[in-house]
Amino acid sequence: MREIMLIVDFGSQYTNLIARRMRELGVEPVVVGWNNAVWAALQHYEPKGIILSGGPDSIYEPDSPSLDRAVLPSGIPVLGICYGMHLMVDALGGEVQAGEIGEYGSAEILVHSESPLLKGLRIQQQVWASHGDSVSQLPEGFRTTATGPEGQFSAIENVDRQLFAVQFHPEVDHTPHGRTILRNFALSICGFEGSWSWGDYLQLREGEIRRLVWGDQKALVLVSGGVDSTVAAVLADRALGERAYLLHVDNGLMRKDESAQVLRTLEQLEVRNLVGIDAGEEFLAALKGVTDPEKKRQIIGNVFVEVLERKMTDLGLSPDTSYLIQGTLYTDLVESGQGGTNKATIKSHHNASAELIVKWRESGRLLEPNDRIYKDEVRTFARALGIPEAIASRQPYPGPGLAIRILGEVNHESVAIARQVDDIFISELEAAGIYGEISQALAVFKPVVRTTGVQGDARTYGHEVTLRAVVTNDFMTVKFAELPWEVLRRISTRITNELKGVVNRVTYDITDKPPATTEWE
Ligand code: XMP
Repeated sequence: MREIMLIVDFGSQYTNLIARRMRELGVEPVVVGWNNAVWAALQHYEPKGIILSGGPDSIYEPDSPSLDRAVLPSGIPVLGICYGMHLMVDALGGEVQAGEIGEYGSAEILVHSESPLLKGLRIQQQVWASHGDSVSQLPEGFRTTATGPEGQFSAIENVDRQLFAVQFHPEVDHTPHGRTILRNFALSICGFEGSWSWGDYLQLREGEIRRLVWGDQKALVLVSGGVDSTVAAVLADRALGERAYLLHVDNGLMRKDESAQVLRTLEQLEVRNLVGIDAGEEFLAALKGVTDPEKKRQIIGNVFVEVLERKMTDLGLSPDTSYLIQGTLYTDLVESGQGGTNKATIKSHHNASAELIVKWRESGRLLEPNDRIYKDEVRTFARALGIPEAIASRQPYPGPGLAIRILGEVNHESVAIARQVDDIFISELEAAGIYGEISQALAVFKPVVRTTGVQGDARTYGHEVTLRAVVTNDFMTVKFAELPWEVLRRISTRITNELKGVVNRVTYDITDKPPATTEWE
């Protein structure tokens, strides 16, 4: 039987993070909106515990989110966080004071009573708080277990009724021991075993997909070779078998062996309906003579859609009759400023088939089964699905591929050089054991730049390659990676040796973003 932690969402930007923390503890979270049939969720899931999230409102504002009356009398252990604490206190006859200044950022609290929630914590704790209102009087039967610098109620509880609340956010990294608090609540107080796994996640998502794509309806998955779409492909196959069309378009701008590798991997995973399309020549023909970056992107996007639509017609797939299953992650939604429910424009500027995807979205046939999990979670899930490490831990790679890493015309020759350089760079980072520490590494080949060199006894007039490696959480801003000199030297030597006569100079890009973007074009 499923054991659920019900998370009631009052609009906090951290709600999804609470769910993530539960998964880390081996606890299955279900998030419901505060106004979205909480009562029904209680009946349906019979949760073992309930967490009330924070939220941006004050409980005194008109129409502010309210607490379903069934929650507190249910006898199920409840943890209220920030706004959730205020609702709990208010509902039980305590008082909440509308704050003028409030408390934002890091604060130190004192843990001063034995508490099942705060077990294992030292007296002094750093916590992250972000609230205007605060509790001014406790409800009957409650006691304070931690206080803030000015004596505020930081943590309160009524152990007899299994009700707990904290003014701060235990789910964020800025509360260093927040995980202990959540573990105490979930495992000790609620009694979860912590045995939920990614196998359970697979089963759940499979079931959902099957219920939606019922009968003999078909679904399409576009597999780029990255971890997100590979996972979506395996998931779709497991759920739908032959009815899931896993389509990989080789645009001729992929990394060395990448297309072959993704196809091989999916074959080894015994997916049932894999379609590989080798359209490299078509892309290169369309890119002939083009050097403008945006034009390259546009052409690649257009050709992609042409190739795709042709194949879809062959296979009898369309946005009106079949489904599209995409590997969108929670992080993608947040990146495009839509951590909430509106996902209208996700990554459209990056997505080759944006218009087509809009059609699917509008027809209600776009499925994004992983849109609540984070990047590192999809990697863990990939491993659980048996996807090899090379794909599970793969760095992101842009849709237009090598084309936007060639400063100049994209043709067989320039692509071959860019591909070889990329392969040397990436494999040396792997050999040095630092690939995983870097968010993205890329090599830029510059046919437009000529540079003088001396190789052997002769002067050369060749080209430059620039290496770029960055570290980032979200690609909105990046820092250049401080790669070890000896690794850079080895890479530089290999590139100039192995591409003798072509590349005679290697530089390393030491610009952050901003001012520079990650890609050169
Ligand atoms: P920038 O260069 O904007 O890149 O700092 C941020 C992230 O986005 C990727 N990127 C793209 N991905 N199509 C894609 O699918 C594109 O046109 C594109 N441009 C940049 C880039 O590789 C990095 O991960």
